[in-house]
Amino acid sequence: MSVRLAVFASGGGSNLQALLDRFADTPHAKVALVVSDRSGAGALARAESAGVPALHIPVSGRPDTDVARDTIDALAAERIDLIALAGYLRLVPAPVVEKFHGRIVNIHPALLPAFGGPGMYGRRVHEAVLEAGCCVTGATVHYIDERYDEGRIIAQWPVPVLPGDSAATLAARVLEVEHRIYPAVIDAVARAMAGDRVAVPESRLTATETFQAGDAVPPDDQHIIAIARI
Ligand code: GAR
Repeated sequence: MSVRLAVFASGGGSNLQALLDRFADTPHAKVALVVSDRSGAGALARAESAGVPALHIPVSGRPDTDVARDTIDALAAERIDLIALAGYLRLVPAPVVEKFHGRIVNIHPALLPAFGGPGMYGRRVHEAVLEAGCCVTGATVHYIDERYDEGRIIAQWPVPVLPGDSAATLAARVLEVEHRIYPAVIDAVARAMAGDRVAVPESRLTATETFQAGDAVPPDDQHIIAIARI
């Protein structure tokens, strides 16, 4: 089985790009659809450049039922198996969450459950982390449910907050990690769905052992998968 992945994005789509690059030529998964709530989203342009169907499904001012119907129709038309939210700033309609239960994954630019919830997206997350005086932030990949930034955590990776950081410098440091962990985790989820055994290292590392390697970004997929709960 080759897993057909839909990516939902509202913004520039750098995480989408990391997924497009990862799955450009893989037998077990491919990006088959990109959906955005914004017609001008950079993500739609990236999809078009990669030859992937790109769809604008407006959300503002429309009843949830209409958004849900359009989304479910689009997912069915492309025979989508798995959805990755990559900077998608809307709540996924409940009927879609229900239909794709356990098959929608999100990336969040902080260590959930801290700094999540309604209104906590993009730059605002990093501003809140700085304001709270945190020494550490990070990235979280998790399954979604009907609420913002809840649902079972699959993998997290820490990122240091450094003296003099602004929201922009912190966002860039976290984004570098996002681009490593999101494709690795989606790849492992897709392999598991395709029936492949996920290659978890025999002696599963604890998060502490993994991070003590002292790497600013995950050195390889194995380190990410060692701590992931897929
Ligand atoms: C990423 O940092 C992603 O984690 C965040 O939006 C950014 C999108 O960047 N998502 C959230 O804050 C969701 N709550 P991108 O468009 O370059 O991938």
